[in-house]
Amino acid sequence: MKLSIIITVIISAVILQIIGLSLFIFGFFPVKPALSGVSGPESFYYDDGGGSDSVANHTRASMPPHLLKSLYQELSGIHPSFERLILMVIDGLPAEFVLGKDGQPPREDFREAMPYTQALLSNGMATGYHAKAAPPTVTMPRLKAMVSGAIGGFLDVAFNFHTQAMLDDNLLGQFFRIGWKMVMLGDETWLKLFPGLFTRHDGVSSFYVKDTVQVDQNVSRHLENELNRDDWNLLILHYLGLDHVGHIGGRNSILMAPKLKEMDEVVKMIHLSTIQTRDNDQGKTLLVVVSDHGMTENGNHGGSSYEETDSLALFVGLKNDLSDYAASSCDSIYQVDIAPTLALLFGVPIPKNNVGVLISEAFDLLTDDKQLRVLELNSWQLLRLIQAQLPGLSCRNLPSHDGFTDGLASTTVECSGSMEKMLCCLYMNAINLHSSWKSKSLSRSKSRDDYSCTVAAYHQFLKTAKTCWLTCFWDCGNGHIISNIIRPHDLHEYRGSTWREPTPL
Ligand SMILES: *[C@@H]1O[C@H](CO)[C@@H](O)[C@H](O)[C@H]1NC(C)=O
Ligand SMILES: *[C@@H]1O[C@H](CO)[C@@H](O)[C@H](O)[C@H]1NC(C)=O
Ligand SMILES: [Zn+2]
Repeated sequence: MKLSIIITVIISAVILQIIGLSLFIFGFFPVKPALSGVSGPESFYYDDGGGSDSVANHTRASMPPHLLKSLYQELSGIHPSFERLILMVIDGLPAEFVLGKDGQPPREDFREAMPYTQALLSNGMATGYHAKAAPPTVTMPRLKAMVSGAIGGFLDVAFNFHTQAMLDDNLLGQFFRIGWKMVMLGDETWLKLFPGLFTRHDGVSSFYVKDTVQVDQNVSRHLENELNRDDWNLLILHYLGLDHVGHIGGRNSILMAPKLKEMDEVVKMIHLSTIQTRDNDQGKTLLVVVSDHGMTENGNHGGSSYEETDSLALFVGLKNDLSDYAASSCDSIYQVDIAPTLALLFGVPIPKNNVGVLISEAFDLLTDDKQLRVLELNSWQLLRLIQAQLPGLSCRNLPSHDGFTDGLASTTVECSGSMEKMLCCLYMNAINLHSSWKSKSLSRSKSRDDYSCTVAAYHQFLKTAKTCWLTCFWDCGNGHIISNIIRPHDLHEYRGSTWREPTPL
C-alpha cells in the first residue's frame, strides 16, 4: 500500500517535471508552426480552400515514381532543365572567399588558390551568390533550410547534437518520390537527416575536428568512380575539412589556401567530366556548390554576424547570357532561395514550408510563358503557406479589376492597408496581369512591356510575402533570430507602395 503511494508520488512528480520542462522549452524557444505533409500534384493548381482534392487523393497514395514524374511534368508544363544534380557542400566556406565583397574581388591568395572556379566565374560559366544564412549558423539547421526552404527556430540547435530524421517536406523526399537514386559522400549529418534514402553512401564523422585531411580524402576517394557511373540522379558531396581548418587556425590559417585549392580541384574534376563534355554527360548535369554557413575571423560560427551568415551558392552549368564578372557574382540572395529554385529546375513541387523565392537568373533560358509559370508556382506555394499563418487571408472576395483587355491601367491597383489586404492585392495584380498577358498572346499583340510588368508584379508579391512571413515570425519574439535576414526597415518599403520596376532579387 505504502509502496504504491510512493510510486504514484514519484510518477506524478516526473510527469509534472516533464510538463514544466516542455512549457519552458516551447515558451522560451517558440517553434515556427509548420505545415505537415508534402507538396504533391495539387501544387500545380490554384485552389483557394477547396476543389482539387481528388487530384491529390488518387495520386498521393500509390502512384509509381516514373508516372508521378511525368504527371508533374505534364501539370507544370515545364520540361526539367536538368536531369542530374551534384550538390557540393563546402562546410564553413564564407562566400567572400570566392566572390569577394562589396564589389571587390577576393583576397589575392584565395583567388589564386581557386583558378578554375575563378575562371568559370569570369567566363560567365558559373553564377555565384552571397546566400544569406539564418542563424543559428550551424550545419544541421542550415542543411535543412537549403533542402526545405524553411527556417527553423532555436530548437534546431538543441537537436543539432542529436540529429533526427527530417520529417518536414523537403527536396530529397520529393526527388525520392519521383524515383531518383541518390548518393551521399561526406558529413554523416545527411545520413541522420535522411536515413534509408541513399543508394550508396560513405559518411564521415564531424567529431574529429582536428582532422583536416582524411575527412575530405574519404569523400574524394569515391569521386572518380561516381562520376563514371550513370546510376544516380543526385550526388551529394559534403566536405568538412575547410570548417575544421577554420576551427584550428581561423580564416587566416596557413592551411586555408591549400584547402581552397583542393576544393577547386574537385570543381574542376566535376566540370571537366560532366558539364564541359555535354556529349558524354549522362543526362544534363547541374553542379551547385554551396556552403552551409561562414566563419568569424577566429573560425567560429553559430551566430548572426555577416562573416558567419555569408554562405555561398554557386551554380555551374546554367546556360545563361551573363558574361560579366560583376553581374554574375555580386548579387545576394537568401539561403532558403536555393530550395524553390532547385525544385522548379528539376520538376518537383516546391516543399510546403518554403519561404524562399526562386533565383530568376536560373530560368533565363526558358521562354516567357514558362518564366511566368515558375513565378506563378512559387507564388501559389507562398500564398498557401501564408494562408496557413493568417487564416483570415482569402483572396477570393476582392473586387475584381475589371477586364483583361483594357491594358495595364485597369488591371493593376495601388496596394495598401493591412498585411492581408496588401498581400491579396499584390497577388491579384500579378495574377490579373498574367491572365491579361495570356489572353493577348492569342491576339498577337503581346508586348515586352506587358511581360516585364507581369514579372515585376510577381516579384513584388513574392518579396512582400517572404518579408511578411519572416516578420510574422519576427513578431513572435524571435526578432534576434532573423533580424539579420530581414529588417523592419525592409517592410516599410512595401507599406502603401504600388508595384514598381523589377528589382533584382
Ligand atoms: C480524398 O480523401 C479524403 C480523406 O483522405 C476523403 O474524405 C475524400 O472524400 C477524398 N476525395 C475524393 C474525391 O476521393
Ligand atoms: C576514412 O576512412 C577510413 C577507412 O574507411 C576510416 O578508417 C576513417 O575513420 C575515415 N575517416 C573519417 C574521418 O571518417
Ligand atoms: Zn557546418
